[in-house]
Amino acid sequence: MEIKKVGVIGCGLMGHGIVQVAAQGGFDVVAFEADQGALDKGLGRIEKSLGKLASKNVEKGKMTEDQAGEWVQTTWGRVSGSTDKADLADCDLIVEAIVENLDVKKSLFQELGAMVKDSAIFASNTSSFPIMEMAEASGRPARFVGLHFFNPVQLMRLVEVVRTEATDGDVFDAAKRFGEACGKTAVACKDTPGFVVNRLLVPYMVQAINMLDRGDASKEDIDAAMQFGCGYPMGPLTLTDYVGLDTTLSILEGWVDRYPNEPAFSIPDSLRQKVSEGKLGRKTGEGYYVWEGDKKK
Ligand code: CAA
Ligand code: NAD
Repeated sequence: MEIKKVGVIGCGLMGHGIVQVAAQGGFDVVAFEADQGALDKGLGRIEKSLGKLASKNVEKGKMTEDQAGEWVQTTWGRVSGSTDKADLADCDLIVEAIVENLDVKKSLFQELGAMVKDSAIFASNTSSFPIMEMAEASGRPARFVGLHFFNPVQLMRLVEVVRTEATDGDVFDAAKRFGEACGKTAVACKDTPGFVVNRLLVPYMVQAINMLDRGDASKEDIDAAMQFGCGYPMGPLTLTDYVGLDTTLSILEGWVDRYPNEPAFSIPDSLRQKVSEGKLGRKTGEGYYVWEGDKKK
């Protein structure tokens, strides 16, 4: 089972990074978006990120200027953008990275199941939803896995490869090899809420928000405590802004609906409030912090 051509659906925060690391890994990639504006934005982010990585490699003496230029061109040359689903029909692997809404994801996979070649593998980058529900909607549960990348995809070194009870062993192995070819350490997990990382990370972010809402400590101090007390690269409230408050809320809503008796899954009032005000974190310029571009004010 050889993967050569990959389709990535959604070119937002996660999707653009997945397109990029797949192209860096040598795959031909179709970056698919709902509309041209969103596609252009996603491709622009890839161009910027490739430029940054190339300059870093030159600074560190890992590449000459010429080699870096050639690397950017070759990588970029493997990427094509599309807003026409027909361009996905002959992909060997499709990775979905659209909005965290199960109904929208299921209807997308139902449509893809009817139009993408039968041998293709389907994967979702969902943060929280059961892979099996999407696998069933696609009509090809044996060829379906979770491929959960981390934000920012270009820098985070992990991918979780999620198998359901229906996932074929060869499909799982091919998906794992793909993740590794993208430069990631691949860990296996069953189809459980939040897989490994989010099951641990999201309840921790919720506790930090609750602490802030109760007035136990300031956001700056909560973040500094975890950065300097535990050596985390960013504190939990900065991380919530980084992930996106809308994505965090969607993750929690799905869990609270399905597991109402699990005390680790709860929704802080301030999270709901901020999302309803359009304060979605770094991507909208305000969440728990105010942001100026990529940096906190
Ligand atoms: N592409 C290329 N370069 C990038 C980049 C990108 N996408 N993003 C950042 N960089 C570069 C920056 O330009 C910067 O370069 P310089 O040193 O030349 O200035 C360098 O990387 C470091 O970035 P920053 O200075 O902004 O900040 P930092 O040192 O704190 O590193 C970080 C940034 C790697 C993101 C680090 O803060 C970190 O590891 N944070 C934790 C992230 C995390 O926990 N992610 C998981 C989220 S949960 C998830 O993803 C799952 C889910 O389902 C919700
Ligand atoms: P995002 O809002 O930044 O990007 C989603 C993109 O999908 C948007 O560009 C949107 O235009 C596009 N889109 C929506 N519906 C579409 C459709 N039907 N067809 C094609 N494109 C469509 O969201 P994100 O943060 O990149 O999250 C994407 C997925 O990745 C979600 O399932 C999320 O849970 C998961 N995830 C997010 C993070 C994170 O830190 N944000 C980390 C890991 C996984």
